[in-house]
Amino acid sequence: MITSISFENFKSLDAFDLGDMHFHLSPFTCLIGLNGSGKTSLLQGFDFCSQLMSGTIEEWLKRREWKSNDLLNHLSQQRVIYGNVEFYFKNLGEISWDFAFNPSLMRCTHEDIFMAKDRSQFVLEDGRVSLFFGSGKTYEYPKGLSYKGSVLSILDTETLHPAIHAVKTYLSGLRSLDMLTPQAMRRRAKEGENIGYGGERLSAYLHGLSKARKEQLLSALQGFYPQVEKVETSALRAGWKELKVTEGWRNSKNKPLLTDARHLNDGMLRILAILAQTLPPENGEKKPSKKQVIPHCLLFDEIENGINPELMPKLVAHLLQAPQQIFVTTHSPSLLNWLPDEIAKEAVILLYRDSQGGTKAVRFFDLPTPKKRLELLGPGEVFVDVDLEAMTQEALALDPTLP
Ligand SMILES: Nc1ncnc2c1ncn2[C@@H]1O[C@H](COP(=O)(O)OP(=O)(O)OP(=O)(O)O)[C@@H](O)[C@H]1O
Ligand SMILES: [Mg+2]
Repeated sequence: MITSISFENFKSLDAFDLGDMHFHLSPFTCLIGLNGSGKTSLLQGFDFCSQLMSGTIEEWLKRREWKSNDLLNHLSQQRVIYGNVEFYFKNLGEISWDFAFNPSLMRCTHEDIFMAKDRSQFVLEDGRVSLFFGSGKTYEYPKGLSYKGSVLSILDTETLHPAIHAVKTYLSGLRSLDMLTPQAMRRRAKEGENIGYGGERLSAYLHGLSKARKEQLLSALQGFYPQVEKVETSALRAGWKELKVTEGWRNSKNKPLLTDARHLNDGMLRILAILAQTLPPENGEKKPSKKQVIPHCLLFDEIENGINPELMPKLVAHLLQAPQQIFVTTHSPSLLNWLPDEIAKEAVILLYRDSQGGTKAVRFFDLPTPKKRLELLGPGEVFVDVDLEAMTQEALALDPTLP
């Protein structure tokens, strides 16, 4: 899993550090902060790293309708984005990936993966890729490789050091759903190896789930909406897939209410999209069925949107048990309130802007006032009780990187 992430010069994330020096990230992270503090930008930052690793950065910019310049911090003259992601894998130990990305070239001009366990290193420098093994052995690739994003996107990492492959697999299997919208989820789709950035391939994704997974999904959905009897998908002409949900209300002929995705409520669509990707593995299942891609790490922006507070305890319990690392952003005290105190202390991160306009991060319950109030109140009650502007001042006063 990812234990820390840092950026220089990516949007408002300049000299930005989440984790690293002060703490390690947990399997579940909840980002809070005022409007404009940088929550969505941070999810985009994670997604940016994922696209670098997949070599799909140009398509990603196009989909977001961004120019390469939009990636840069507009308050700085720098033309290069620097980043660092640190990982911990049970069998491989600590691994760190550093990169320097040049938006004019659309590729990383420097990369470094350091494997702490055996002190091996993978380096891209001056267009040349070298592998230094802890044993002293070195391997060099020929110069002049042609790639976009990370050079690892074009290398068959399965044949390289397992730690390099783990970094590539983890990051390319990260999915930021900061553009998830019910409008997109209502669409019919043809192919769905994932649900799509806005959820636009949800119907095809659900259609491709195994029978056992569909049953698992239905029972999870019934935990939220007990009136649901069936979730059906069907293949239409030309390969389009359609999604329909049957609910227990009956008409005078005892026929249940069958609703097409186009008319389903927003909350149910969002819960369906969240559940479909966070189901625990089926018994004995190692890999997901067929071509379906279950992300290793999922990021949801304003996860509470369209979901009523009564469902929050179930949603939080579900996310805490998810097999993936999860990041959410929220403005919802009700979400925070359902986090056990011990988890909240580690998981809740406050993002704020410093006097230079840069986004900064601090563990919310490390700040003196929230820490004190948590002794008496629940995490969500503390969130309501404190003024986030004042907490920004507390965080600035504690920030060791500021003069
Ligand atoms: N290229 C850039 N360079 C510097 N700052 C930027 C850049 N792009 C956006 N910003 C700043 O980041 C802010 C947007 O931050 P973001 O959308 O991440 O906030 P948020 O915490 O998600 O807010 P909300 O709660 O309203 O969703 C903008 O208002 C702007 O101040
Ligand atoms: Mg936002």
